[in-house]
Amino acid sequence: MASKLVAGNWKMNGALADNAALLRALAGAGDLAVACSVCVPYPYLAQAHDCLQGSAIMTGAQDVSEYVAGAYTGEVSAAMLAEFGCLHVIVGHSERRTLFAEDDRQVGRKAAAALGGGLIPIVCVGETLAQREAGETVEVIRRQLDAVAEVLGGEALGRVVLAYEPVWAIGSGRSASTEQVGEVHGAIRAWLRERCAQADAVSILYGGSVKPANAAELFAVADVDGGLIGGAALVAEDFLAICRAAA
Ligand code: G3P
Repeated sequence: MASKLVAGNWKMNGALADNAALLRALAGAGDLAVACSVCVPYPYLAQAHDCLQGSAIMTGAQDVSEYVAGAYTGEVSAAMLAEFGCLHVIVGHSERRTLFAEDDRQVGRKAAAALGGGLIPIVCVGETLAQREAGETVEVIRRQLDAVAEVLGGEALGRVVLAYEPVWAIGSGRSASTEQVGEVHGAIRAWLRERCAQADAVSILYGGSVKPANAAELFAVADVDGGLIGGAALVAEDFLAICRAAA
């Protein structure tokens, strides 16, 4: 049985003073019954870690280098993230894939680097609207996952978190329907069972316009083990309502 996780992705948002208020509200939330994490921009990791210490919410990052150390200007390693108290790191978000040209195999290498540094990668996959309309959704997602599996191998695959984020649902205000989510999460679970002994223990999150109003119904879908939350993670009461809906 996969454990539940709700992770917030702040993307490139925040400022020290605004973060302090948001983090204070999150830290004061008390027991949330499911694992919750906020993935913040690198410069705010220390602030988030300090503010959330002793609370129910963990700290994470939004990307990680595929390299361990060395002459890679601008990169941040998994070991560095671990030193700042990160447990989770998002890899392969569609914004990284489309805006920064990350390909499927690089996403696999980043996931491997995260695991090697003691982090849990949240590996994102998802189709564009054109791919969905062409009936290619499951094929696209299997291809993205295959590349990760080739790099990681079956045992390590059992230690990642997967996130299904249809590109067209991200930041659009329009989440995928429960039927669409159920179909893709079922396909991902089936794919996992073909490759990995711990398939049923891998958490599969849904992301894309999750809000307090739709979280409970999305989280009730079979094989949905929580969510990856963008815009709503920037508002404490919304993020906490979504966390509670996953319990
Ligand atoms: O990683 C989370 C994300 O891409 C979803 O964003 O704003 O649609 O919840 P949003």
